[in-house]
Amino acid sequence: MKLNSIRFKASILYTSILCIILVLFSGVLFSITRHILYRDVDEELQIKAAEIVNILKSYEKLKQTESRHQHLINKLLGVEDRARLIIDDLWRSDMQALNLKSDYINILNVRGQPIIKSQNFNEEITALFRNKFPLSLNYAVFKNLKNSKYRLRAINMPFSFGNQHLLVIQIGTPLDSVIRILNKLMYFIGAGILFILGLTSFLGSFFARRILKPVLNVTNIVDDISHTDLNLRIPEMEVDEEMKHLISSCNAMIERLEKSFEHVNEFSSHVAHELKTPLAIIRGEVELALSETRDVDEYQRVLNVSLEEIDRLIRIIKDLLLLARLDYNPDVFQFENINLKAFLEEIHEYSSILAEQKGLASELKIPESAHYIDGDKIHLRRLFLNLINNAVKFTPTGGKISITLAIKENRAEIVVSDTGAGIFREDLEAIFDKFFRSHSHGHKAEPGSGLGLSIARSIARAHKGQITVQSRPGQGSAFTVSLPVA
Ligand SMILES: Nc1ncnc2c1ncn2[C@@H]1O[C@H](COP(=O)(O)OP(=O)(O)O)[C@@H](O)[C@H]1O
Ligand SMILES: [Mg+2]
Repeated sequence: MKLNSIRFKASILYTSILCIILVLFSGVLFSITRHILYRDVDEELQIKAAEIVNILKSYEKLKQTESRHQHLINKLLGVEDRARLIIDDLWRSDMQALNLKSDYINILNVRGQPIIKSQNFNEEITALFRNKFPLSLNYAVFKNLKNSKYRLRAINMPFSFGNQHLLVIQIGTPLDSVIRILNKLMYFIGAGILFILGLTSFLGSFFARRILKPVLNVTNIVDDISHTDLNLRIPEMEVDEEMKHLISSCNAMIERLEKSFEHVNEFSSHVAHELKTPLAIIRGEVELALSETRDVDEYQRVLNVSLEEIDRLIRIIKDLLLLARLDYNPDVFQFENINLKAFLEEIHEYSSILAEQKGLASELKIPESAHYIDGDKIHLRRLFLNLINNAVKFTPTGGKISITLAIKENRAEIVVSDTGAGIFREDLEAIFDKFFRSHSHGHKAEPGSGLGLSIARSIARAHKGQITVQSRPGQGSAFTVSLPVA
């Protein structure tokens, strides 16, 4: 599994999220458990303290004459202030009933002097208690006492004995069992987290591989597609929605590639054909001229024909080069602010010269107001001259050519119309294709390469404009160039 693969990243991502959740959850679980265990210990300590205090208080009621107890009571009241362990039968049996074997018990007077204490309450324990419970405390407090040897939970609880005699009872109970439970819990949680993380990262990587399998399949199929088998498509598999989308996008892309390959192929064969015809004519003429000795006139004719065909070749090649430049290199345009009125008048001048030569009328209709566009004059002139050349070419003598300008919603619409042969409906879109020349009305008889309208459309598009055509066969055509006004 590669480090920068989706599979690896996905596994890492959800494993770490899961890890964070588990750790947080376990932390909460652990502290709740700890809290509950400590609360139980505290409750128990409080009960023990209360019971011991009760036992002590029960001695108060004993008759003063019973000297055995008198000794104890005196001691508690501070009459005998020498601290020592109580060796009193009654006290001992009462205490045994409480089962306090592992607890540390100490009863002090308000000055901090021990009055009664359990045998296990040694110096070290005394020091531990003294550090944590200063004498000023006059309410019940629970604390943890800890050194390298002992870990205790302890209560310090003041109580009154006799007439306003304030004493303090301290009990410490070892935390061993609580710590044991908490340690076990911690090990269990740790092992659980490791196990769950291991399992999920394994399962996660397994499922990620299953989910990503179709991607590998698609990649393999796409790898196999070369330009010779663009007709191949990725089969629609039983896969998830997103993969279906990817597959259909890939298929759509392959289809577009196939179309543009077809287009390029078609275009190259058109180019080859267009270039071959003049060359074939030149070759035929020259071959014929060379087959036997000819007079000078014949040689001149052959040379003239060749020259014409060579010019045609040069024109086609120039147009093709221009088209390539227009389509792929917008830098060839040099935009400037153009006054439409002056510009169209210049175009009209050219149009009337051409029209007159063929016996056609030519008119210009433009509004009085001044309008400007941003454009490249040289290329726009070429665009309109192409339209006018076509209009003149496909309109028989006696017809009319008009150039009109109308402004519609920030767009200048310039229409070049004629009363000529018109275009068949089925040809209307195709006339803008490279090398397309209509078969209707003997169009083919007219000279031309079929590149003029392609060039015109490219120029219009470079100006954020478009060319549309309306035509009726036998009645005429109107080409509308729409350009944004400046
Ligand atoms: N004004 C028009 N009237 C009728 N047909 C036209 C007109 N303009 C263009 N066409 C048709 O569109 C074809 C393509 O035009 P164009 O690209 O300029 O090539 P060409 O002029 O070299 O034939 C023409 O051959 C013709 O069939
Ligand atoms: Mg033309």
